[in-house]
Amino acid sequence: MTRMKLAAIAVAGLGLSAAQAADIEVLHWWTSGGEAKSAAELKKMLEAKGDKWKDFAVAGGGGENAMTVLKSRVVSGKAPTAAQVKGPSIQEWGAEGVLANLDPIAKAGNWDSLLPGVVANVMKYKGNYVAVPVNVHRVNWMWVNPEVFKKAGATVPKTWADFPAAAEKLQKAGFIPVAHGGQPWQDFTVFESVVLGVGGPKFYQDALVKLDQKALTSPTMEKSFDTLRQVHKYIDKDAANRDWNLATAMVINGKAGMQFMGDWAKGEFTAAGKVPGKDYLCMPAPGTEHAFTFNIDSFIIFKQSGADAQKAQSDFATAVMSPEFQEVFNLNKGSIPVRSGVSMAKFDDCAKMSAKDFADDAKAGSLVPSIAHQMAVPAATTGAMQDVVTAFFNSNQSSKDAVAKLAAAAKTK
Ligand code: BGC
Repeated sequence: MTRMKLAAIAVAGLGLSAAQAADIEVLHWWTSGGEAKSAAELKKMLEAKGDKWKDFAVAGGGGENAMTVLKSRVVSGKAPTAAQVKGPSIQEWGAEGVLANLDPIAKAGNWDSLLPGVVANVMKYKGNYVAVPVNVHRVNWMWVNPEVFKKAGATVPKTWADFPAAAEKLQKAGFIPVAHGGQPWQDFTVFESVVLGVGGPKFYQDALVKLDQKALTSPTMEKSFDTLRQVHKYIDKDAANRDWNLATAMVINGKAGMQFMGDWAKGEFTAAGKVPGKDYLCMPAPGTEHAFTFNIDSFIIFKQSGADAQKAQSDFATAVMSPEFQEVFNLNKGSIPVRSGVSMAKFDDCAKMSAKDFADDAKAGSLVPSIAHQMAVPAATTGAMQDVVTAFFNSNQSSKDAVAKLAAAAKTK
């Protein structure tokens, strides 16, 4: 709930007027090709149960626009049935007392035994389930067009130290080295992968999750900003405000060599009929092979009264956790199932790698929450830190200055 104190909406939020009985109004920001296909699967499943899907899509990758619209809807007493909200924001909404308690549904569905502990905790407010998880996205990916690298005689970078040489070759051969969309959340997405690759998962955890001032002001953070500056050198001049999926399209159609983006980008490759390992490569962002930044999509469900509305809610939460939904949705979305007991047989190699790495990194302690995708710190803090990164990315500010500003922004409550 970026930079808006929820207290102001506490009272208003309780006077919810639900959408029409048995209507399921779902706020989300899944509007790209791959995303829309995924959302359509949920709609189909609910309509099969006799519920009526009311689409409430608010365009804008990363979800900032959607969150703004959600707040104003709740303030005006018109909460949707469910809204795509994740990470610590679930707690913030929970504290407002506007969310339905999903415990009976969770008990009946055995959620506690199906979900990894790290996921279940995020879905609960004061021990009660108030959100239902959809998937696990990995953020620290690099999407590569191998043909472009081949034509340029360049080697795909394995570390950030390798990156400039590869990018230079792509540029000399007439390609755009890095496909990027200049929107704050995309800048921040690249930044977190850079920090992870430059500093490693422990450093990432200290700096971007624990917000430890020593880590935030360290030479490693300065080096991270230097590296981000390098990446900026290799984006094109039309990047400003480009949507992420258009940047992905540049890799798909061979204009650009690589993109640093979470695996919702894979949904675009899939929708375009592209095959991993052949038409494109999914690789961990440089230097992040042994780490995993997770981003878990989830829905909070608002308190509703009336038997019809409650049936609709229960249908929604039950459908989202069902193995059928988890399979078909995640095949389209680029993510992996969040619950156990879903066959990975139909998933591609990228998803299989993601599932294996998720488990391995959880054991090794190198599974870290994505800050750019609202999993790591409260929304206000995320917003303030994101602003610093974007200001740096779009100016000639020195890395030293950016470090000081980021450390100050991390104190935002
Ligand atoms: C969400 C994804 C979405 C992406 C781009 C992320 O924050 O978790 O589900 O596809 O933003 O909009």
